Amino acid sequence: MNKDHTLRVYDSILGLLSDSDNPTPLVRLNRVVPFKHTVVYAKLEWYNPFGAVKDRVASNMIRDAEESGKLTPGKKLVEPTSGNTGLGLAMIGNAKGYSLQSPLSIAIPLEKRTVLRFFGTDVVELDDTLCPAPGAPEGAIARAMETAENDPDYVMLNQYENEENPGAHYKTTGPEIWKQTGGGVTHFVAGLGTCGTITGTGRFLKEQSGGVNVIGVHPEDGHDIPGVRSLRQLAQTKLYRPDEYDRTVEVVDKEAYDLCLRLNREESIIAGPSSGMALAGAFKTIPDEPGNVVVVIFPDNIFKYASSMQRHFPDICPADKKDGSSDGPGKNDIYVDRLMENLKNKYDSVRVTKLHDELKDGDRPLIVDVRTAEMFTDIYIEGSINIPMDDLQDRLSELPEDRETNIVMVCGIGKFSKNTVLLLKSMGYRNVRSAKGGINEWVRKKLPTTKAK
Ligand SMILES: Cc1ncc(COP(=O)(O)O)c(C=O)c1O
Repeated sequence: MNKDHTLRVYDSILGLLSDSDNPTPLVRLNRVVPFKHTVVYAKLEWYNPFGAVKDRVASNMIRDAEESGKLTPGKKLVEPTSGNTGLGLAMIGNAKGYSLQSPLSIAIPLEKRTVLRFFGTDVVELDDTLCPAPGAPEGAIARAMETAENDPDYVMLNQYENEENPGAHYKTTGPEIWKQTGGGVTHFVAGLGTCGTITGTGRFLKEQSGGVNVIGVHPEDGHDIPGVRSLRQLAQTKLYRPDEYDRTVEVVDKEAYDLCLRLNREESIIAGPSSGMALAGAFKTIPDEPGNVVVVIFPDNIFKYASSMQRHFPDICPADKKDGSSDGPGKNDIYVDRLMENLKNKYDSVRVTKLHDELKDGDRPLIVDVRTAEMFTDIYIEGSINIPMDDLQDRLSELPEDRETNIVMVCGIGKFSKNTVLLLKSMGYRNVRSAKGGINEWVRKKLPTTKAK
């Protein structure tokens, strides 16, 4: 392939993929850094051709699958992804003739799901948590595996277990950083998602000099930072190898988002939330000493995260009004939102362990599972009935006539079911609750489930 990195003339977009001859930029941070001596560089991964650090991984996994004969012309890819790997796979797939199906959590930012569709990906939306949890019942990972097992046309590259994920960073990110800092890097910092970045880059840098400190940064439990995983989520992640890192550190959402805002406003660096998180972790752990040279991975830029910004900075980035103007929600929207919030109360939900106990009693609640029929068939709580949320309005006659009936609504993660509680209450049902954490929580607590034969 013709690639002239000095003139930046290429035969194909794939020539732009980074390596030590064509590295993503390292930019020194000047204004947000709390140090006098320690020098901090950001490695700007959105300079990859499809906008994120994951382009390296997508390209390396596809190359490996082609070389091993697993991926041949005419085959299709299926990959669960919180977005960036999907975007990379979709575009490299488009360039090479492989289509992509991607099962995704509905909690993934709308921007990423929309762009994936725009790129031609078959997006299958699931009621799953923000990061797909291996083994979770409706998990994007389980769904993709099933597709790959049952349909020989599909190949799952599985970024969560594929050694070519850290391998991509061992071959490119690590050598780039070593060359760009002239071997001077002393600390390498990355956010933890699949852990491909930290494991592969860290391993390469440590092989060059045992003195490089490798620091992994993770968010808190229940976080709202797309692409990264809390310690509990990391426990299920195969490429998480904490014994190969010098330390890991937690950063809470507020620290990450506040620093992300400062990076954009004070450094003019268009970094996204997980970049703010990684940098905050660096500031928490690295001492201010002469000779320290820190490289922090900035995985992608802010443009994919409008909805996250609206949530974390409602004063600066208010949501649109219904009439399309953008100076914040209209009075009526606020009124309706408040009304909805006020209608919810703590007696509306029940913990799954309590629900399990109640099911053993004489007055067992009727469980209405509002997930899709397909998800329900796969796994459900014995004795439940299934009325998918989308059909609920049309199938209300299937509910008991007696408005005193004890009813518990169940969904994947307890989000949709809360809204259905309000719908049933508005129809006069007085004894209706939602199962906290949904079927995911039920399974996590190892409570009994059943499957359609
Ligand atoms: C935005 C973002 N930040 C950080 C990461 C973490 O990278 P890794 O999966 O290599 O640990 C990812 C990975 O998906 C990501 O998309």
